[in-house]
Amino acid sequence: MPYVVTIDGPAGAGKSSVAKGLAKKLGVNYLNTGAIYRAVSLFLNDAGIAPDEDKKIIEALNKIKLEINNEQVLINGNDVTQQIRTPKIDGLASVYSAVPCVREALLEIQQRQINYGSLIVEGRDTGSVIFPEAEFKFFLTATPEARAMRRFIQNKNKGIHENYDDILKSIKQRDKHDSERKISPLSVPEGAVFIDSSDMTEEQVIEKLFSHVNNLLRSKKES
Ligand code: DC
Repeated sequence: MPYVVTIDGPAGAGKSSVAKGLAKKLGVNYLNTGAIYRAVSLFLNDAGIAPDEDKKIIEALNKIKLEINNEQVLINGNDVTQQIRTPKIDGLASVYSAVPCVREALLEIQQRQINYGSLIVEGRDTGSVIFPEAEFKFFLTATPEARAMRRFIQNKNKGIHENYDDILKSIKQRDKHDSERKISPLSVPEGAVFIDSSDMTEEQVIEKLFSHVNNLLRSKKES
């Protein structure tokens, strides 16, 4: 039977790397729902459609072709995987993802991914709204300072120079926006295992999630 593992949490908590690592260890697919919001925000912004133009948003989202393959996202055949990883899209995605008709349009696209087999899915509302019946739910977080430092080091390794204080400020702003929005605010889903990864390595977090999932899968098999 296919199963779903949801990993929710704030920006920069390491959800993507952990979801990817866990999916690899379990040999299943993974879905980065933030990438979908990012791609759609890029598309709407490029099309000149503002976040308050509901009718135009619905029309545009009814027509677009969205292809998702693990972390790769294509919109109308264009691979936007790299393009959506900029500070500008960080901001745009936070705004468009708070628009109810955007969330509605993307709900079914996300739920449909279970048709391709077991899934590790990560985002903000994956355990509460997208897959409320998921077998395994996790909430992964870390202090804003720890998350900002990770982003700073990641950027540095990529040759991108972004000031630590600016990163911290942007993380705090996005936390506020994502948790205070009216629709699907970031929250700990009922039944989720809460993990603070501030003092953990990525490998330790993956191992922790893996052992939870593995134990439960084993006990299900035995019963
Ligand atoms: O995880 P991320 O930073 O790539 O997400 C980009 C934006 O999309 C972020 O502002 C939160 C939003 N998002 C959301 O509202 N719901 C999700 N399931 C995933 C992301």
